Amino acid sequence: MAVERTLVIVKPDAVKKNAIGDIVRILQENDLKLLAIKMVHLSKEQAKKFYIVHKDRPFYDELTDFMSSGPCVPMVFEGEDAIARVREIIGATDPAKAAEGTIRKKYGTDVGRNAVHASDSHESAAYEIPFFFNALEIHE
Ligand code: CDP
Ligand code: MG
Repeated sequence: MAVERTLVIVKPDAVKKNAIGDIVRILQENDLKLLAIKMVHLSKEQAKKFYIVHKDRPFYDELTDFMSSGPCVPMVFEGEDAIARVREIIGATDPAKAAEGTIRKKYGTDVGRNAVHASDSHESAAYEIPFFFNALEIHE
């Protein structure tokens, strides 16, 4: 195990549900340290760039429409084994299949509107963190 950083986004559906505070609290209570946070309204082009790994998937257009439909809240969390642990805390991609007590179970609506994003690997974290934050915006 190692100390890792991961990128989490409170997606537009969860911002509308007033769930920002609860999602931050849940992650902090799991020994994850909040290093960076902002609220941004992505353009369609920015959403397409963020999700470029999914460019050939059938849901790419719908996903990037949704992610540019309103403000979202990207954040950087740091902790032991943070990438895998945050994925567990948020739950399965489809909220209907997410385990009891997970963020997506609590706040997700359906597979498209599933409340949160979290980096799924070191490689994706290395792309996603600097997508939103420069060095001055990440507080050690
Ligand atoms: O977000 P996660 O890593 O759990 O899932 P993904 O497979 O990387 O897909 C990225 C996002 O695309 C998901 O969070 C969903 O919002 C959306 N998606 C969708 O709308 N329909 C699918 N069949 C799969 C994913
Ligand atoms: Mg993913």
